[in-house]
Amino acid sequence: MSCFTRKDGTLYCEDVSLADLAQQYGTPLYVYSETAFVDVYRAYDDALKGLPHHICFAMKSNSCHAVLKSLAALGCGADIVSGGELFRATKAGIRADRIVYSGVGKTEKEMAEALQAGILMFNVESFSELATLNDVAKRMGTKAKISFRINPNVDPKTHPYIATGLKNSKFGIPWDHVMEGYRRAATMAHIEVVGVDCHIGSQLTQLAPFVEAAGKLKDLVVALRADGFQIRYVDVGGGLGITYSVEKPPAVAEYGTALCDIFSGMDVTLIAEPGRSMSGSAGVLLTQVLYTKKTDAKRFVIVDAAMNDLARPSLYGSFHGIELVSGEPGEDELIDVVGPICESGDFLAKDRVYPRLRAGDLIAMMSAGAYGSTMSSMYNSRPLVAEVLVSGDRAALVRSRGTCDDLMRGESAAPWQ
Ligand code: LLP
Repeated sequence: MSCFTRKDGTLYCEDVSLADLAQQYGTPLYVYSETAFVDVYRAYDDALKGLPHHICFAMKSNSCHAVLKSLAALGCGADIVSGGELFRATKAGIRADRIVYSGVGKTEKEMAEALQAGILMFNVESFSELATLNDVAKRMGTKAKISFRINPNVDPKTHPYIATGLKNSKFGIPWDHVMEGYRRAATMAHIEVVGVDCHIGSQLTQLAPFVEAAGKLKDLVVALRADGFQIRYVDVGGGLGITYSVEKPPAVAEYGTALCDIFSGMDVTLIAEPGRSMSGSAGVLLTQVLYTKKTDAKRFVIVDAAMNDLARPSLYGSFHGIELVSGEPGEDELIDVVGPICESGDFLAKDRVYPRLRAGDLIAMMSAGAYGSTMSSMYNSRPLVAEVLVSGDRAALVRSRGTCDDLMRGESAAPWQ
């Protein structure tokens, strides 16, 4: 059930009015429901209870400190892809032995920091990365626990920019090279093979691609064990897609049942790295209408949020629902919701039929909790948006609005100026 509901005509996050939050903290404003995060975490935990498992939240979808703290308190782990994410995860109290490290371009410094922290495993994506990791671990007098991220060549049926498990993708080790990779790893003194991993893409709204990829991982575990490898972990990558408009993703329980069926009796610990499904519906971006402008083609609704705050519509043509926070909706018309940035690609919604919006109206861009704030930038020298976490009737500002000093942090004139 959504944590964003209407009471007396006003949109609420849990028991807090979004109109009040906008009044108090200004706009644009990201608002997250703590309950929504916790509920989905519990749903994954419950769905996978048939197997030993770790849920490692893909914090690239939402790395808000307060959100991570709530998840850490539940025992949630993290899927990280940078030293910065390791830093954030550690600061939030996520246990190092619940952290898996994915990504094609880990630097030596990042590897050393992760080894120092004692993470659960590295998901290695190339043979040259493997060699570098072995060197770094050797210098540190330790062993790096690894799985290979396998590219199973499964079509995830999603947007091409976020499909990662097809053979033309930069991710993972091609299926035909996998055994060679493991055998090579076995010869390295500072590498300990512990698992297998794949992530085929994001915003998956069907179960079949997950099942196909998991089946391939299972076959691989069998083959590797026959070869003498002690495989303890199977990491199935990111989680389910969400409903932005008409999508009907399977329930978390169905996903769990499918995976438990595949891996039961295998004596493995399952790792899932859900991101979007935990954070997407847990957040909205509140923005105020500044002006409207009618042309022959449509009405432009110019709001105070822009593509730098929520990049998904511009980048992927993604759909986010629009909700008028309070007030009477007008007549339906064709609109674009656009930001103040000097690019025609700066829109939050395009060619939408929506009741007339007026200057001063407050709207919520829905399902913006995943890949919203984390993908924001300060383009056009726009300071980063403030963030609020809600729990029941409590609300707290958990990221203050960026300032002009933030814009110029670390900058200076050149000595000759
Ligand atoms: N694990 C790995 C290794 C990943 O690369 C990703 C997402 C996930 C887990 C989480 O997948 P999820 O559960 O969220 O589907 N910016 C894009 C999405 C990029 C996804 C990148 N990888 C968007 O806004 O749609």
